[in-house]
Amino acid sequence: MIKRIQQAHHFILAAFCTIAVFSANTQAEPSTKVNGVDIEQLLNSMSLKEKIGQLHLLDTGGATSAETIDGEIKEAIRQGAMGSFINVNSTEVANALQRIAVEEGPHKIPLIMARDVIHGYKTIFPIPLGQAATWNPSLIEKGSRISAIEASADGIRWTFAPMIDVSRDPRWGRIAESYGEDAYLNGIFAQAAVNGFQGKTLDDPTSLAACAKHFVGYSAVEGGRDYNTTYIPEPLMHNYYLPPFKDAIDSKVATVMAAFTDVNGIPATANHYLMQDVLRKELQFDGVLVSDWGAVDELVMHGYAKDSEHAAQLAMKAGIDIEMVSEDYVSFAEGLLYEGRISMQDIDTKVRRVLTLKAKLGLFKRPYADAAGKQDFVNAEYRQAAKLTAMESLVLLKNHDAILPLKTSQKIALIGPMADAAFDQMGTWALDGEKKYSVTVLDAFNDAFQDNPKALRYASAIPYSRSYEEEGFKAAIKAAKKSDVIVMIAGEEASLSGEAHSRADITLPGAQEKLIKALKGTGKPLVVVLMAGRQIALKNVIADIDSLIMAWHPGTMAGPAIADVVFGKFNPSGRLPVTWPKVSGQVPIYYNIKNTGRPAHSRPFTFMENFPLEAHQHTLGHATNYIDAGFEPQFPFGFGLSYSNVEYGQTKTNKAKFKRDETFEISNTVKNTGDKTVTETVQLYIRDITGTVTRPIQELKRFKRIELQPGEEKRVSFTLTKQDLKFFNRDVDLVFEAGTFHAWVAPHAMTKEHTVFEVL
Ligand code: BGC
Repeated sequence: MIKRIQQAHHFILAAFCTIAVFSANTQAEPSTKVNGVDIEQLLNSMSLKEKIGQLHLLDTGGATSAETIDGEIKEAIRQGAMGSFINVNSTEVANALQRIAVEEGPHKIPLIMARDVIHGYKTIFPIPLGQAATWNPSLIEKGSRISAIEASADGIRWTFAPMIDVSRDPRWGRIAESYGEDAYLNGIFAQAAVNGFQGKTLDDPTSLAACAKHFVGYSAVEGGRDYNTTYIPEPLMHNYYLPPFKDAIDSKVATVMAAFTDVNGIPATANHYLMQDVLRKELQFDGVLVSDWGAVDELVMHGYAKDSEHAAQLAMKAGIDIEMVSEDYVSFAEGLLYEGRISMQDIDTKVRRVLTLKAKLGLFKRPYADAAGKQDFVNAEYRQAAKLTAMESLVLLKNHDAILPLKTSQKIALIGPMADAAFDQMGTWALDGEKKYSVTVLDAFNDAFQDNPKALRYASAIPYSRSYEEEGFKAAIKAAKKSDVIVMIAGEEASLSGEAHSRADITLPGAQEKLIKALKGTGKPLVVVLMAGRQIALKNVIADIDSLIMAWHPGTMAGPAIADVVFGKFNPSGRLPVTWPKVSGQVPIYYNIKNTGRPAHSRPFTFMENFPLEAHQHTLGHATNYIDAGFEPQFPFGFGLSYSNVEYGQTKTNKAKFKRDETFEISNTVKNTGDKTVTETVQLYIRDITGTVTRPIQELKRFKRIELQPGEEKRVSFTLTKQDLKFFNRDVDLVFEAGTFHAWVAPHAMTKEHTVFEVL
């Protein structure tokens, strides 16, 4: 509900301030026209109330039709006290709100309709973590483009995506919404998503303003608990959390969202240093900065603002342009201005940015949405794109005895709670996805077995992923016994990841581990396909699983994508964008660790099962590891198998010593020794051996996806310059330091063979 601009004295002040506005603006900046709109002229003609209104973003209160729009909301628009809305998802509501703004509002300034269009609108693509597993930015761009076309048909012109919080912690539910643990990959995918959402020009009616979020370091929450505290030292902030934002800004992302979180003692929403010195000056962002949901007022809860008025002041001063759903700006900005706690310039700068965005989006010329686009929702082309992205996101992690691919001539038992989960296969943040469009694995397998339906037996065994009910085990085991092979579709329901859905224990929920053991007990080969919003700790069951595919939450086309991979119509090519832990306690776990003084891999290592009785501590080695889980992950970053076999030669550089201004060429030969055409993701990692701040043991610098025919060999080479070897030092200067480097052109991050080169 709209809080009135309550304090009586504010009404009296309004008149004063309006006069002040006009006099302050007699020195207006030179007129700048954006897409035909004279922003300065418009700004100068607006009352203070209207200006503050432009910074006001509210939820529509669940309006589903023009008639159900709240009367107070309508009145606020009429008075010019509203700038944008979140959670509009119908053309009717969008156009009804817009009509009031552009026909009855004081200056007929259009509204922007926003929505979280994260990995699809009606056609749901894999969750972003799955999209990242494709290592194929063109698919991410295409998916974002389709999402924008669909969403804009419902009047949406602003999405709160992409989320580019580099994520090292799968306990954190929002890892599902991220592009994984690597800053370079996040940057590549951020650019792809921004290009897709924003299209060729923002002015195109099918373009959405994208939003790079959450600035910054939200994923570093302690213990993976959502919204928790973060402490991020400057070199880590600059080398790891900020680069994807730089890439998004370089791709002209229209908006950025501030994180909810406390960063080094100051909540991001009020963090002047991060928002001004880093975001505006260092990263040169000149678009709209929006708060997260209610985050301005949460400054009080954080213990940083004394009250809501103070919260408005702090956020305004830090540089938040638009306040999302809390209403401290609209309630207190006038008073703060009168008291001199904020300046007219603070307000004007924000309003100028919002008006510029509206002009760039072409909303002044074309405020209304065209519902005609709805007829294309989930059309054949979009479904095909969603299927291809889902197929490429599938990561084959284990394939014992080459059980996969299966043949439809085999008898198959399809088991598991995610096999027919039309809703859950869409994953988190599929707000507008409708399960009626989903094709499940059961649907797709039924299709594949059309000519031989008796060969397919289906039993869910467990009704939903968290369930401990075991009544269904019996039917599942019976089906398994009558089959040649078991395909279990396991995992997590959509609601087990996403915002505020962190887990302390990331093993398979419910009775699923028990089911795996029971199925294994039948002696039949067991294929497990996981659908989940994060890596799942599999230590207890990995030995029981013969073949394993990670499918993430694949979206609308989960079934056909999984079927094509399982039955070998598509040779899997996905690669992990995260390191996969064996047990929850290994988290956070990531490939680009520091070496430490006692790296685990170079010291004697004894698991606790092998400790002699009454052993003295020093006999067991002193290295950085867990005595019960070791130091290695279940699967390394960048890992993924195929139905073929690819062999790598020796990584080579074109010289052993380079001058710093030379180009460094690093290459390897890659050969398909299998009998199927394969798409191989060749990865270049670098280690800088010594630095004035210690450097990670590996960093991904480049990758190339290449196709190899059976027997084909290719030389894959990468070129780097000293630019690629730079890092932020302790003084937060971006520096190149000469020295020795290691390089790997390799299939994943845990490849041992490397080459050494020097840069002088
Ligand atoms: C999330 C944002 C999201 C916003 C609007 C918040 O709870 O943190 O990522 O864009 O809600 O729905």
